Amino acid sequence: MTDTPEFVGKVALVTGAASGIGAATAQAFAYAGASVVLCDTNPEVETMALSMAETGLHTTAVIGDTSNANDCAAMVEHALSQYGRLDFSFNNAGIGSRMRPIDQIDENSWQRMVSINLTGVFLCMREQIPAMTASGGGVIVNNSSVLGLRAIPETSLEYTAAKHGVIGLTRQAALNHAQDNIRCVAVCPGFIETPLTTPGTSIDIDEESQRWFVERTPLGRPGQPEDIADTVMMLCSERSRFVTGVSLLVDGGFSGT
Ligand code: NAI
Repeated sequence: MTDTPEFVGKVALVTGAASGIGAATAQAFAYAGASVVLCDTNPEVETMALSMAETGLHTTAVIGDTSNANDCAAMVEHALSQYGRLDFSFNNAGIGSRMRPIDQIDENSWQRMVSINLTGVFLCMREQIPAMTASGGGVIVNNSSVLGLRAIPETSLEYTAAKHGVIGLTRQAALNHAQDNIRCVAVCPGFIETPLTTPGTSIDIDEESQRWFVERTPLGRPGQPEDIADTVMMLCSERSRFVTGVSLLVDGGFSGT
């Protein structure tokens, strides 16, 4: 046995790293020994990367928007110029929205949702896959949702549609790039306590709907960002070397109810 952290010498890129699930996952990669590029539209991501680096972790930041092709290219370019390779990507950046009847969903809101929650994942993968191929292979984990696999009453139509799209994108890329030694998987979180799901945010969740989720979660508690981060570590690990194309529910049993 050795005490060397599992991902020493590896390079990871995390989008949406300034908050919630992305922040926890960036931290988990860094604690596991990887060099980590934290990406977010929120400039706060720079302060986070800097304070992690001050504790001896290998972290840098890129401010960028995953729905912008040039920004996605810059994120991957940064990983290559700083660290010389790319092994893991967690395409996690995303937004929520409130449920509205279909005749009240204007094209701009639809486009915004699809361009961040679906096209953004494609734009990131389009840059990451050649970089990983040049590095000898890698693992891409895309953050979908339980709403990528099913619908839930009173939930945003455009969010559910975009998250279903992430599953299809992941599945097909897994087949198309298996020969490049790249594994592509999706995680499908249930209710996770983050700024996104805090009452008063864009998805308009209230305490009653939080209770609704927790009551239907057999493990009896809301998820935490670290629950997803640990799953991403497991999927990137060599222990998952024969796993690709899957969409893994991480929802405390919610979807089985
Ligand atoms: P969060 O709101 O705490 O964090 C999202 C981060 O993504 C923020 O830092 C935000 O600035 C960043 N971001 C948003 N749009 C971006 C863009 N275009 N480019 C770069 N960065 C951008 O949210 P949370 O809960 O951590 O969500 C992360 C992902 O997990 C999202 O894709 C969300 O849909 C998904 N998810 C969350 C669940 C939950 O219950 N919290 C459940 C299932 C999926």
